Amino acid sequence: MTAAGTFGYGTEYSHIFDIQRLGAIVCKGTTLEPKEGNPQPRLAETASGLLNSIGLQNIGVKALIKEKAPLWASWRVPVIVNIAGETVNDYVKLANELDGVAGISGIEVNISCPNIKAGGAEFGANPESAARVTAAVKSATSLPILVKLTPNTSDIAKVAIAVAEAGADAISLINTLKGMYIDINTRQPL
Ligand SMILES: Cc1cc2nc3c(=O)[nH]c(=O)nc-3n(C[C@H](O)[C@H](O)[C@H](O)COP(=O)(O)O)c2cc1C
Repeated sequence: MTAAGTFGYGTEYSHIFDIQRLGAIVCKGTTLEPKEGNPQPRLAETASGLLNSIGLQNIGVKALIKEKAPLWASWRVPVIVNIAGETVNDYVKLANELDGVAGISGIEVNISCPNIKAGGAEFGANPESAARVTAAVKSATSLPILVKLTPNTSDIAKVAIAVAEAGADAISLINTLKGMYIDINTRQPL
């Protein structure tokens, strides 16, 4: 399976290799409304990895259903839609909209997003809020749901157990690690 956000909507790579040979394609994180994402630069290569801060640039769920899903429906490879919200209700609305759409085989719940109603901590930072969003999505759709955990928490195993008990069909490991790249000459973050 591809990692969300690194493989667009699947179409972008079809000229490089046969994408139908993949186990599944996980598409770019999708929100209720389209998003332009953060200003550049959004990627920084470091000696020990790649930092990213894309800001969930995406076309929005309505355009995804209208423009991408009909094409996916003709593919052999299953497509899983990665969803992102700022409230539990956002996730529920997204799951509702995607339920029963031809071409969509599952939902991956990105819980690395800030929970606006709870002061901005990531949903996935603690077992309770991770379980709450999982249960809400599970009851809003008949599709299988994968819950994508954040490494930015003190005990990821507790979060994994909580989302499993709340109805996750699978877990995805792991979302982006937080990091900072400091230019030692200017002493500033890049
Ligand atoms: C450019 C870029 C965009 C990403 N966009 C998303 C996204 O939209 N939703 C999501 O859940 N994860 C997103 N991720 C996280 C990746 O799917 C993956 O979880 C992360 O890069 C950790 O895997 P790695 O250590 O192999 O890079 C993105 C990562 C990168 C590098």
